[in-house]
Amino acid sequence: MDTVYLDQASTSSPKADGLGEVIARYFASGAYTVSRGQYEGAISTAQAVYQARKDICQYFGEEDVRKLIFTGNVTHSLNLVTKGLLKAGDEVICSSMEHNALMRPLYQLSKRGVKVKIIPASSEGELDPQKVADAISSDTRALVFTAASNVCGSCLPLADLAEIAHKNNLYFIVDSAQVAGHFPWQIKDLAIDAFCFTGHKALRGPQGIGGVILSQKMAENLEPLISGGTGSYSDLEDMPPHLPDRFEAGTPNLPGILGLGHAVELRLKEEAFESYIQEMELLCLFLAGLGEHLPAYLVEIKGLGLPGAEASLAWAKTLQRHHLTAGSSLPFTMPLVSLNFPKHDNAAVAFHLENEYGIMTRSGLHCAPRAHKTLNTFPQGTVRFSLASTNTLEEIDYTLSALRKVLA
Ligand code: ALA
Repeated sequence: MDTVYLDQASTSSPKADGLGEVIARYFASGAYTVSRGQYEGAISTAQAVYQARKDICQYFGEEDVRKLIFTGNVTHSLNLVTKGLLKAGDEVICSSMEHNALMRPLYQLSKRGVKVKIIPASSEGELDPQKVADAISSDTRALVFTAASNVCGSCLPLADLAEIAHKNNLYFIVDSAQVAGHFPWQIKDLAIDAFCFTGHKALRGPQGIGGVILSQKMAENLEPLISGGTGSYSDLEDMPPHLPDRFEAGTPNLPGILGLGHAVELRLKEEAFESYIQEMELLCLFLAGLGEHLPAYLVEIKGLGLPGAEASLAWAKTLQRHHLTAGSSLPFTMPLVSLNFPKHDNAAVAFHLENEYGIMTRSGLHCAPRAHKTLNTFPQGTVRFSLASTNTLEEIDYTLSALRKVLA
């Protein structure tokens, strides 16, 4: 086996079938822009962008395509929402499992007088929603959570958190980086005020394109983070009042949007939950193999044990029959596992896997130092193996055998 790519949580590889061709076709046919000139090429590009918006909204269960704002990635979306919403004196609540995509904007906001409350998760990466409810004060304006940890894959109890947010009249913001694309979402079921997503992970689109779907309430109360030309209301010095233009200043990433639109169109044609079930099967086999061959290391697996993976598989099968509805829980875990090798340098394990066996993983702190502190894997970090339905059983067997040799 030449190479095995197990860094799917960083970015998916391979990308959606035909993605390169769609992007190449855009450039070959003139690479015209949108909302500026009114020539035929500009109009057909605008039509293709509209179709991409429609498909992405359909995939996430949003009927009003104007509520989808294109951004560069989930980090950009989280900055747009938190910095556009929160003012000095406001309080925001998040968990200790968040990625720096959220923690760094919140740190900046804290210097401007926004209060940030971080609710600790357990050393297994699980968050007790009651602790969030108990932390709410009269200053709390928003709850913002990752849907799943990029370090250990544990899913946060989004349905419970959504209920807490709405009972207390708080904005509910979700970082879906590690879940969007793994299975279809109906974001309305959880009444999410800002659903932030990226296109280049499980959606299998290109890098540099993502977005956020806003609720009406959020859109009406959000100050644009970036202002500039939109091709509309050009007589105004202020940003246009209407969506999506109000939050989409500057020429958009058109090849990215068309590429992502194509990737999502393929996702829409797939059987719902098919790829997630395949991913969970691979994860279970990987964990079972670790348990069989590397028992000494299992004790050091943080945030995910074998029973969790089995529960996820069962859950995924149930989910196939009943679509996600209000009040139902999200899956227990995503298809990734972080390993800490106590007798080895984790970075050296990752290096040997890649250098000698062509197995690509990600070691270190995964841009989530606080999550590692929560899981007791700071500062050494872990070696993260993250899977996609494009990985195979043979690759899992090969990785287990390579891991045995590297650790021998
Ligand atoms: N957030 C990405 C990761 O976890 C880049 O690797």
